[in-house]
Order: sequence, then structure tokens, then C-alpha cells
Amino acid sequence: MADLSERLREALAAVESAGTLDELEALRVRLLGRNGEITAQLKALGSLPAEERPTVGKAVNRAKNELGAAIAARRKALSKRRLDAALSEGGIDVSLPGRGVLPGAEHPLSRTIRRVRAILAGAGFAARSGPEIEDEFHNFTALNMPANHPARDMHDTFYLPSGMLLRTHTSPVQVRSMLGEGAPLKVISLGRVFRRDSDQTHTPVFHQVEGLAVEEGLSLANLKSLLHEFAEQFFEREVEVRFRASYFPFTEPSAEMDVRWEGGGWLEILGCGMVHPEVLRFGGVDPERYTGYAFGMGVERMAMLRYGVRDIRRFFDNDIRFLGQFAP
Ligand code: PHE
Repeated sequence: MADLSERLREALAAVESAGTLDELEALRVRLLGRNGEITAQLKALGSLPAEERPTVGKAVNRAKNELGAAIAARRKALSKRRLDAALSEGGIDVSLPGRGVLPGAEHPLSRTIRRVRAILAGAGFAARSGPEIEDEFHNFTALNMPANHPARDMHDTFYLPSGMLLRTHTSPVQVRSMLGEGAPLKVISLGRVFRRDSDQTHTPVFHQVEGLAVEEGLSLANLKSLLHEFAEQFFEREVEVRFRASYFPFTEPSAEMDVRWEGGGWLEILGCGMVHPEVLRFGGVDPERYTGYAFGMGVERMAMLRYGVRDIRRFFDNDIRFLGQFAP
């Protein structure tokens, strides 16, 4: 027994002075391994007189546990020391948790387009699309802007060498839908449009949503109530709107709709009006029988108002810090 506690003291001292994990492991095998000293002592219990076995057995077991705990503690200390050394040498710590995978976020413009489409689908409008490279007929002429019409200049058009152009608005889809489907009609078109313009509130590429309804007996009152309802659903609150007389060659009368903002000011959000009879005629629709209304809005502008974004260019910077704020 005296011998055992003497050996335990020596063994604990050896564990304490083990300088590396390998050294420590060799020590563990020598003491506690299958052919280790302590193991041998446990095995030797069988040859002791029966009355000594419990006391000696207990002492050996206690020594075994004490040693095991000392080895574990030493191993922890040595691992930490090795990790610290690797880190201070600039090594890679493979034991640290990974950085994780960032969830994607829907682009605020896609999100705005999806919401606008859903709201208008609820009012019975079906989505249509048209080409981004248009001809003068659909972009201008059929919209009551014949060659040399001054309104063409307001569009800052990108012309292609072929004589085609990048559509300056989604209104040509009005003409394509009427020609393709006839009346009655209730469609929206959403997509990219292009103008030679660039500053804090203009980019050369932006998005519009266009709506067109053609039916017998449609009136300005139908247009106004639809757009008011739309604004309340889009901004998710009660809003006050007003219609200001305006001018578009393809609508008569024409108006711009403003929304009352916090602080009392009015903000313009879209252009609209009753489809000009000339435009119906270009679309193959009889203006004596049908009337129509149309409206068009800028998606970026709606997104800026909805999410409080001041600079339109943020939508196109692809800065993950900006876009990440729109994660679900
Ligand atoms: N096309 C017009 C624009 O781009 C918007 C508009 C669409 C106005 C439909 C009236 C009716 O400014």
C-alpha cells in the first residue's frame, strides 16, 4: 500500500511534466494501458489474501481514477498550448466553427414587381410581356406620337444602328396586346425600359409596370377607384390620393396620381388616363364601342417610397449590405 501511494505520487509528477501530447499518451499507455502498471496491480489483486482484496482494490481504483483525471487535465492544457502555438504562427485553426452560409435575399425590385403583380392580379389583370428592342411603330407611332411629334424628344431614346430602339416605356405592350387579343382586355406588362438619363433619381435602365383595361363603358371613375385601392394595398395603409391633370399623347384625359406622404407633402407615383381613341384604333379596337384606361408607374420609384431608399442607384450596385436588408 505504501508502495502504491509512492508510485501514484511519482506517476502524477510524470503526468504533470509531460511536455507534449505524444509523451503524455506514452505515459498513459505505460500506466493505465492494457499492460500498464496500474492495470497489472488490479490484475494482481486475485493473488492477494481474500481479506486484503477490498482495501487494496479500493486504493488501486482510486489511484486509477486520480491518474485518469490528471491525464485528461494535462491533455487539455497541452492541446490548448499546441493550438495557441499554431495560431501565433499564423496556422489555420480547423477546430473553429465555420462561417456559415448566408441565406439569399430577394432583390427589392423583384420583390416590388412581385407585389405589384399580385395586387393587380387580384383586380383581374393578367401579365403580358413585349420585346425590349422595339420598333418606332409600337413605341411611338401607335401611341399617338407620329414622327416629329415633340413628345418623342422627352423620351431620350437609345436608337440602334438598325433603326430599332430600346423601348422607352412599357406602353408598346398596350398596342401589342390589343392587336394580339382584341377587346375586352385587362392586362399588365412589367419589365425593363431604357432612357439616356442618369442621376440620383434616374438610371439608364429601369422598370415599369403598365396596366391597360379595355371594355364597354369603362370610365375615369373606374380608373380612379382601382388606383386608389392599389395604392392602399401597396403601401399597406390608408392613403389619400389626388389626380393632377397632365399630358400623355396616348391618353386623353391624362393625369398623374399623387400620394399624401408623412409630413403632408404629395408625391407623384404614376401616370394614367383614358386611352386615346387614336391608340384604340391603332390597336384594332373600335373606339365607338369600347373605352379603355391605362396607367404606368416606375418600379424603382415605388420601391424607393415603400422601403425608404433615397438613391435609385443602390438597386443596381449589388452591394450585399444593402440587399441583405431585404432578406425575409
Ligand atoms: N408611358 C408613360 C411613361 O413612361 C406612363 C403612362 C402609361 C402614362 C400609361 C399614362 C398611361 O411616362
